[in-house]
Amino acid sequence: KIEAGGTLGAVRQVMDGMIEKAGNDKRFAQEMNDCYDQIGRYLQEKKVRVELDWEKVKSPKPEYVLGYKTLEKVGFDDITDILSKLVVLKLNGGLGTTMGCVGPKSAIEVRDGQTFLDLTVQQIEYINTEHNVDVPLILMNSFNTHDDTDKIIKKYANSNVPIYTFNQSQWPRIKADTSLPITTSKDSPTEMWYPPGHGDLYKSFYNCGMLQQLIDEGKEWVFVSNVDNLGATVDPVILRHLANTDAEYIMEVTDKTKADIKGGTIIDYDGQIRLLEIAQVPKEHQDDFKRVKKFKIFNTNNLWINLKSMKRLVEEDQLQLDLIINKKATSDGTPVIQLETAVGAAIKYFDRAHGINVPRSRFLPVKSTSDLFLVTSNLYIMENGYLRMNPARTFSTAPIVKLGDHFKKVKDYLARFKTPPQILELDHLSVTGDVFFGANVTLTGTVIVVANHGAHIDIPRGAVLNDKVVSGDLRI
Ligand code: UTP
Repeated sequence: KIEAGGTLGAVRQVMDGMIEKAGNDKRFAQEMNDCYDQIGRYLQEKKVRVELDWEKVKSPKPEYVLGYKTLEKVGFDDITDILSKLVVLKLNGGLGTTMGCVGPKSAIEVRDGQTFLDLTVQQIEYINTEHNVDVPLILMNSFNTHDDTDKIIKKYANSNVPIYTFNQSQWPRIKADTSLPITTSKDSPTEMWYPPGHGDLYKSFYNCGMLQQLIDEGKEWVFVSNVDNLGATVDPVILRHLANTDAEYIMEVTDKTKADIKGGTIIDYDGQIRLLEIAQVPKEHQDDFKRVKKFKIFNTNNLWINLKSMKRLVEEDQLQLDLIINKKATSDGTPVIQLETAVGAAIKYFDRAHGINVPRSRFLPVKSTSDLFLVTSNLYIMENGYLRMNPARTFSTAPIVKLGDHFKKVKDYLARFKTPPQILELDHLSVTGDVFFGANVTLTGTVIVVANHGAHIDIPRGAVLNDKVVSGDLRI
């Protein structure tokens, strides 16, 4: 229950002032009111912190997480009838800043000069052609990604993939000390605003009218995923299972490795299915949470959701998604807070919701240039926009690759590899310092290259490095 007056009263005043100044902008008014509600929740939760009761946190019941292998095996030929009821939605609100790129992350070229978006369109083009269906691609953009995305998708105007876009909400950041919005005007610089996390999907999809439009067109399910997950392709086995079980919500999870400690996991909380994120775990239990043994799986953010159920829950205002408090600072150093939500947190509200433990190949995210190094290499083969591991590799797992800070930005990374090295037999690569790789280099086994401060290493063209440590100063 939101309490008026005090700080919240002051927030209301700022919001009302902004709404009034913006004239008759209904969408803006709706967004400010939603943001106001969340600030209310935040202030309430700050006052009465409802801690998770760790005693009630249990490993998921077996029926909550099904093994992918236990599902009925079907191929694309068996699902033509239900493909026509599917839409594919990519979460496309994020920027490529971590990899030093301006603009949407989906505009980064990942393979043969093609971007994440290009690969996604190709995958759906292929399905639509092969099955004579019209699966549409929906992009949830943010104000940060809208313009650039529109430019990229123009070239697909004549493709057989209908592409629709809508913008998620835009909320003012709030000052960490006062909890008031840092701006009083709709027209303030973009630095004052943020997209409130992918949990915003439900409301924004509904508010823009697209959810209803798709239901009216006879669509039943949406397959949602992160645009940077190259493994998130339409899977016939899961789609058939979805249709057979009439589940309202399916979350693809996969086995955790030591590198996946951050991801949320499905739990049984007091007899109910829930997603548990590390931020919700009391400090004294965080090591427990990270342990691979107790919580074996994590959320890939590949979700299959029934459209009518989504509509019902939004209309009933049931989706009170857990708040994520993201602490940031503006460019002048003012500490600010962004109140966000995650799309996976909605699992507890849907009927017959469950997880499917999928092979790791369905989780192939590109978060860093080390990931980019793998997906551009000969470790993967691309067909119709799908990447699959090269069958010529002896091991089924990808090598561990750590490229140092000199490689952090995509621009620098590209400059430092003349061509992608051959890595079919690579287990482990670690590169630190000012290092350049010539064309047609082959790396096998464990390779470590270290150029200490002030040193420079050129790996000559055609070099074959097999279980090697290279250090010092080597120029060609
Ligand atoms: P995130 O940034 O939330 O998750 O983006 P992540 O990939 O786990 O984060 P990092 O890289 O570790 O920081 C997941 C997906 O959700 C989209 C992004 O574009 C990405 O595809 N997203 C995120 C939105 O569409 N809107 C948002 O407000 C936030």
